[in-house]
Amino acid sequence: MENLSLTNPERRLLSKMQGTSNHWTVQEVLSACEWNDQAIAVGAGEGLANQGLVEQIIDSKTIVQIGKNGIEALENGLLESRLWSWICESKEATMSSLSQNFERSEAGPGIGLLKKLGVSIQGGALVAQDPDAVEKEIQARSEFLSSLPKNIEDCDPGMVDSMKSRKELIEVSETTSRTWIVAAEGNAIDSSLLVEKEIISEITPELLQSDSWRDAEFRRFDVTLDSAIPKRGKSHPMQALIERIRSIFLEMGFSELVDDYVQTAGWNMDALFIPQDHPAREMQDTFYLDNPKSIDLKKEHLELWKSVHESGGDTGSTGWQGTFSEDISKKGLLRTHTTVNTIQYLADNPDKPCRVFSVDRVFRKEAIDRTHLPEFHQIEGIIMEEGATLAMLVDTLKTFYAKMGYPEVRVRPAYFPYTEPSLEVEVKWRGKWLELGGAGIFRPEVTEPLGVKHPVCAWGMGLERLAMLVLGLDDIRQLYISDLDWLNSQPIL
Ligand code: PHE
Repeated sequence: MENLSLTNPERRLLSKMQGTSNHWTVQEVLSACEWNDQAIAVGAGEGLANQGLVEQIIDSKTIVQIGKNGIEALENGLLESRLWSWICESKEATMSSLSQNFERSEAGPGIGLLKKLGVSIQGGALVAQDPDAVEKEIQARSEFLSSLPKNIEDCDPGMVDSMKSRKELIEVSETTSRTWIVAAEGNAIDSSLLVEKEIISEITPELLQSDSWRDAEFRRFDVTLDSAIPKRGKSHPMQALIERIRSIFLEMGFSELVDDYVQTAGWNMDALFIPQDHPAREMQDTFYLDNPKSIDLKKEHLELWKSVHESGGDTGSTGWQGTFSEDISKKGLLRTHTTVNTIQYLADNPDKPCRVFSVDRVFRKEAIDRTHLPEFHQIEGIIMEEGATLAMLVDTLKTFYAKMGYPEVRVRPAYFPYTEPSLEVEVKWRGKWLELGGAGIFRPEVTEPLGVKHPVCAWGMGLERLAMLVLGLDDIRQLYISDLDWLNSQPIL
């Protein structure tokens, strides 16, 4: 028996059982092994049975036991028996004297019992047709009660039924008893294998540091067995994913930026050199606000954007030409991308090289479907430093996705009004390339008016898209419908 792995209680029990031929009850196991916990006895018996060393016999029985009111009836007599004695003894057993001699709580049900026994009311008097039969039946009931507990098979079914219908006279319950008998395989185990030893079931740093593990025995665990999945409170998968993304960027030396989502068209678009007649500005994409309908902007910013948009300002660009509208700039909106926040961060800190990221909510007028929501999140970031390059940008994104568990990343040329060159980032998932976001190096039209001297690598990725990959979803809405079964079954990220 090379694979023999017995717990100490199993060893003790088997050593006691070897050479015997009787069925061992739990009680016998407890006293032979000097245990007082039934669970240990049953666990050891079951464990030995699982390994084929003993045979376990499970016997389920239905037992009829005396109930609380039954015990009282045995002491004071059944209600029908007391009533019957009173009828036999009294000279005038009438309904009215009955209610004088018995409590109301007994008189009422008592009449019912007597009637069923064949006692009738004739002109107010209680009269039995066949007094001997009444006597006999009452006797049988008392005898039955005093004979309990009994197996249900040994009871008169009619008696059980009628007593069961009365409150707590008897109790019918299911019991399971186990007995064990040693098998030939159990007898064949060498007694040296049944010596109880210290068994290590948990590996701790202390244990590994000491030398004591060398001669110790290790508890075996069968990891293929089914087990219950523990249910406990945990973060929503989206929140857990956001936390993971945060820790990856923090670990890569980035600082987190958190900012408002009520913004101006000026910062959301003009500062990013998105032409004022760009289709993405139209009502179908952007949620413009009624309140605040317009937000004041600094004159210096409005002037800078006006000159860059109309003629390129000092950047060497020709701009978009046409006329720039300050009113359009001041419009209040819900940010359509988190780039609105990184650009303001650069405007506030134009000369300090930085690595900044954000994971935050954005809004677009999208019809809700399998892959679109009007509110979603972007994973945004910038690297501003001397000599920042496209290679550095791609490398950073590859590192991020590799840390998320997606080592295959590729980039393709793309277009954004505010970056040059511009990239689309794709990640390989189940053999397919999936587009996760955009990136690029901010154009001089964006950075120069703000006084930024170094190149700025920038990106904006979809978080829900990534969540769909991580959680294996094919419908983005699953993330937000609070389906408890689904939430319970989600892995801890
Ligand atoms: N803001 C772009 C979007 O919403 C993504 C992007 C960010 C692209 C930064 C380039 C640079 O899709």
